[in-house]
Amino acid sequence: MSRMYSVSDYEQAARRLLPRCVWEYLQGGTEDMLSRDRNRSAFHDFAFTSRILRDVSAPSMATELFGARYSLPVGMAPTGLAGMMRHDCDVLIAKAFHENALPYVISASSVVPMEELVKHAPGAWYQAYFPDDRERIDRICTRLENCGITNLIVTVDVPVAANRENIKRRDFDIPFRMTPSLALDGLLHPRWMAGTLLPTLRTRGIPRFANLYEEIGTRITEDPPQGFRGGRDRLSWRTMSWLRDRWRGRLILKGILHPQDALEACALGMDAIVVSNHGGRQLDYTISTLAALEAVIAAARDRIAVFFDGGITRGTHVLMALALGAQFVFAGRAFLYGAAVAGQRGVDHVIDIIRRELLTDMALLGTAHLEALHCEGVLQRAAPLNRGVHA
Ligand SMILES: Cc1cc2nc3c(=O)[nH]c(=O)nc-3n(C[C@H](O)[C@H](O)[C@H](O)COP(=O)(O)O)c2cc1C
Repeated sequence: MSRMYSVSDYEQAARRLLPRCVWEYLQGGTEDMLSRDRNRSAFHDFAFTSRILRDVSAPSMATELFGARYSLPVGMAPTGLAGMMRHDCDVLIAKAFHENALPYVISASSVVPMEELVKHAPGAWYQAYFPDDRERIDRICTRLENCGITNLIVTVDVPVAANRENIKRRDFDIPFRMTPSLALDGLLHPRWMAGTLLPTLRTRGIPRFANLYEEIGTRITEDPPQGFRGGRDRLSWRTMSWLRDRWRGRLILKGILHPQDALEACALGMDAIVVSNHGGRQLDYTISTLAALEAVIAAARDRIAVFFDGGITRGTHVLMALALGAQFVFAGRAFLYGAAVAGQRGVDHVIDIIRRELLTDMALLGTAHLEALHCEGVLQRAAPLNRGVHA
């Protein structure tokens, strides 16, 4: 790890290490990948105007959120099937985030039961994929309550499965079926076979959707009896309004791009929204999440907490989102690259890279307090560079 200086170094190392099908699942978006690429290139559309001669000797990056104190305004976005990247990946990411005093969000599509994950990361959040079925939602809420989970994110940008051509080309789909090309892909990546697949099969068997339902779900090789995404396409604001009454903890909607939806969430009394296009993994050709953030902040910042995700690989990216008015940011792929390359040490190192970049960038920007950033006028729109998407 001594030659790893940036998240992009981890990205390239992960690419070399992972079987093609897993890599495609990790880095891919949908169809023409425009939403994913736009998230990344949107950071080129803004530029800092730094301030000088301000005392930046004692920068404070700690952030209070929902009664907890986090060491940085950065959390682990929910990522399903992370267990493909590394043996017990959900566990090692949960541990890394807890030990670094950062929020860890358990994905509905993760493969280690939440009851085990909250032992490694007390205070973990949970992200749900809910069908429009109040009895089932109620039972899942009871499971969360029994685990002591209080922060519930409902992902609302997955009414149906997206068109992930890139993974279908690699024979990678759910339910998972072994094919000769998948077997060859695995055999050509012996480090992954020895470090991820075999220990997983040996210790946990075929992975299951452990957190999608009120009980441990089916294996990833099986069709769940209730359908994998059954009823999600009927989920509506009415059910969210019911859920607001049902759930006594913090309730957060993830997958907001339109300011009008941000206002709807305010009207229903949601605690926060995450401006997100699912890392470009759902609808293609969406607006970048950074551009969406500007519009959502203009409409709703004073009325609801606004979080952000999409394309973050640098401390400067975090600062841009905060300067535009986000209170907190999440990243998915960046931390998965670390996990794929070096397990928990890799996740710790990626967190450390982002922390160090933030420290340096805050000083160079002339700001010692992140909360003040939005009002400082240090970020402007800039003519995009014609440099393509950064690695
Ligand atoms: C491999 C992978 C799996 C994901 N699984 C989920 C999921 O289960 N639930 C969810 O709400 N979002 C999921 N997402 C989206 C992330 O929560 C987040 O919105 C996105 O990764 C942010 O973009 P970034 O990866 O560029 O940081 C996933 C993203 C990736 C890369």
